[in-house]
Amino acid sequence: MKERILVTGGTGYIGSHTVVELQNAGYEVVIIDNLSNSNADVVDNIEKVSGIRPAFEKLDCLDYAGLDAMFEKYKGIKAIIHFAASKAVGESVQKPLKYYRNNLGSLINLLELMPKHGVEGIVFSSSCTVYGQPDPENLPVTENAPIKKAESPYGNTKQINEEIIRDTVASGAPINAILLRYFNPIGAHPSALLGELPNGVPQNLVPYLTQTAIGIREVLSVFGDDYDTPDGSCIRDFINVVDLAKAHVVAINRILEKKQKEKVEVFNLGTGRGLSVLELIHTFEKATGVKLNYKIVGRRAGDIVKVWADPTLANTELGWKAEIGTEDTLRSAWNWQLKLRERGIQ
Ligand code: WQD
Repeated sequence: MKERILVTGGTGYIGSHTVVELQNAGYEVVIIDNLSNSNADVVDNIEKVSGIRPAFEKLDCLDYAGLDAMFEKYKGIKAIIHFAASKAVGESVQKPLKYYRNNLGSLINLLELMPKHGVEGIVFSSSCTVYGQPDPENLPVTENAPIKKAESPYGNTKQINEEIIRDTVASGAPINAILLRYFNPIGAHPSALLGELPNGVPQNLVPYLTQTAIGIREVLSVFGDDYDTPDGSCIRDFINVVDLAKAHVVAINRILEKKQKEKVEVFNLGTGRGLSVLELIHTFEKATGVKLNYKIVGRRAGDIVKVWADPTLANTELGWKAEIGTEDTLRSAWNWQLKLRERGIQ
């Protein structure tokens, strides 16, 4: 019997890749998404890639009654992977109330409805943003690194959501949770049928980079090369989105097979390697043979200078490890951009 999993935000970047891996692992998936930052044709592409069409409901997680009805319609959902959230750091500074209402309200609705519908587990999409700028002695970052004051309302909603989950479980709710703290997800599915397709001007580095390489953007601005790093540009832990998606299947298995050691567990999902912005640019050029037009400009407010993961806990406890290298990952991002042009989408 295929166990039924709800994926909120399942037509989004990480969500869609995770739906494919869940279906490959034999799970039956229900996607809900309000399509505020994605579109429904992603469901078609998930079907093309995995051979299975997931159930899809256009639904906002802020719609409590709608969620309740969805759980009634799709009985027997065993666990939830909760991706649906607003996630643009810069926008969150401009519109904090949108972020607090959406990101906190959505999670609260799900947690309230889980016991009523017998949903026993939740995997929460968190972020390395919760660590802020780790002190030098805390790099690479383990799960025990101090949580610092968030640099943005977006990051604050991730911190608060982790606390909401902990407090709910501690209150005795029949819920088990795994919090996955992502570093920087990049790349696309090897089929080039799924990838990152932000609405409007990309905020994140790699989609802006590939749009520059293909000519949609004139030049990539590198936000600062005067930081205290070897080449002056910021350092991040860039993790392949398919590797990241697979970690979610491992987390769901862990909850449903009751292998958790605590009712709330936290794992960093990164490669364990730091790469600078300039190194990533040069890796892209080497991997694709495409020369990139970029320029150095001033720093971006709120940027963390350097952060990369110590993924030992996920490697040992989950038996999961990031496997796809940066060159293959950047080639997949480029192939996705080429496919978008071929499909006349960009
Ligand atoms: C990476 C580096 C920029 C764009 C955020 C969130 C994180 C996650 C990913 C959602 C920085 C530099 C970027 C550009 C640049 N969010 N950059 N030129 O800020 O590390 O992480 O997005 O899942 O939670 O915090 O990612 O890709 O925006 O920036 O030089 O046009 O690239 O300054 O050093 P970030 P990013």
